Amino acid sequence: MILPPKPPARPDKVSLRRYLQLFRADILSAQPARLYRAWMAEFRTPFFRSFLVNQPDLVDVILKERPDDFPKSNRVGEGLRPLLGNSVFLTNGATWKRQRRIIDPAFEGGRLKETFPAMRAAAEAGVARLAPVAKGDPVEIEAVTSHIAADVIFRTLFSIPIEHQVAAEVFARFRAYQQAQPILNLAAFVPLPRWMPRFYPKGTRANARHIRRLIAALTEARQAEIAAGRAPGDLATKIMTTRDPETGQGFDTEEMVDQVAIFFLAGHETSASALAWALYLLALYPDWQEQVAAEVLEHGTEEFAAIAKLRLTRDVFRETLRLYPPVPMMVREATCPEQFRDRQVPKGAQMVLSPWHLHRHERIWDRPDAFDPARWQTEAGKTCARSAYMPFSAGARVCTGAGFAMVEGVLILAHLMRHYRVELTEGQVPEPVAHLTVRSRNGIWLRLSPRAPL
Ligand code: HEM
Repeated sequence: MILPPKPPARPDKVSLRRYLQLFRADILSAQPARLYRAWMAEFRTPFFRSFLVNQPDLVDVILKERPDDFPKSNRVGEGLRPLLGNSVFLTNGATWKRQRRIIDPAFEGGRLKETFPAMRAAAEAGVARLAPVAKGDPVEIEAVTSHIAADVIFRTLFSIPIEHQVAAEVFARFRAYQQAQPILNLAAFVPLPRWMPRFYPKGTRANARHIRRLIAALTEARQAEIAAGRAPGDLATKIMTTRDPETGQGFDTEEMVDQVAIFFLAGHETSASALAWALYLLALYPDWQEQVAAEVLEHGTEEFAAIAKLRLTRDVFRETLRLYPPVPMMVREATCPEQFRDRQVPKGAQMVLSPWHLHRHERIWDRPDAFDPARWQTEAGKTCARSAYMPFSAGARVCTGAGFAMVEGVLILAHLMRHYRVELTEGQVPEPVAHLTVRSRNGIWLRLSPRAPL
């Protein structure tokens, strides 16, 4: 059976210069094939040392057992700092812990039911927007899913749709920022000395300031509504009215703007990437697509409770997150010397955790490169899910929005499948590359046609 697209691996031995060149072009294809078999690998160059860790119990040491000894590397966010400031994605230690204590309650399982109607409204708006283009002509599907996922964030966070003037402008400017932004993790792999000036592409800082001003205006307006007792019960209100149980303090405007910026970026880029790949995979495997459509027709998407019944749709979404994890790699820093396997890891080494390689590891998964949603119901699949599957990371720093994203992803996929059929466009095979998230080099082009009248 035809396998879904996988980036070509580089030859095992290349010069440092060539490696950096490949790296700059795309992190995924810059790696050698042995990383799909190795438990651990070292990148040793005159300038930096990093280790990629695939062995499940060592991944657990870093993420779950001793996360404080492996904080986020400061370099991860270099390109994003002008935009994200002191956001929970970038902070460490006591500041990060305080921020999570204030944010986490808004994303608790129980609250997802309250958030669901806003997600559902975004899914419906997405289906309606597609009606004029779903006539069998090729459509670039990443743009479609980005639009829907951005709408989900604005509706769930601030109760405003993407057509709202501020929402539309933030969305457009984020796209420009992201296109100008060098690959997120580049700086983490190749640490730059502290004294070296950081260059941002022209206009990046001004754009970031503008986005932050727009978000600050939304936040201030919400503060006034909360004070007046007429704020909607959405995520922004929940976060802005939560006090840290340890200090009694909440977020001030500046710190809230930092968090809104990361919710927007981490929340829509990732879901958009996963949804676009899921639609591509369903176009590539029409038998699975028909089974998903039949499941959705049986259970519907109106009620929150129906989402739990969409078992196959969820397994398709899970399998998509395995093959195309939107965040392909994460980086931590060793704060003390370690011995991992037979290797000495020095203090300051960059520890790379790679959902991309772990999810396709040849010594862990059965037919690792094949699309097989049925694997999630097998014993072997369930074992792998526990030990070698981390699209949302794991441990204390696990994605805040993991539960949210699993409801959103299944709902939107189901709702699109209920109304449209997707088919491949001849000669257009997407090539996965890592930008901010895993995207296709030239977009993902699919033909959409109506499945049932709206
Ligand atoms: C399919 C969708 C998503 C995927 C695959 C995903 C994946 C991830 C991963 C892998 C991390 C850890 C990154 C690292 O440690 O370097 C992360 C962190 C984070 N995500 Fe998500 N995410 C998704 C959706 C969302 C949504 C919908 C939101 C919020 C609305 C969100 C908010 C965050 C935040 C705030 C963090 C930082 C957490 C921390 O460092 O404590 N994500 N996400």
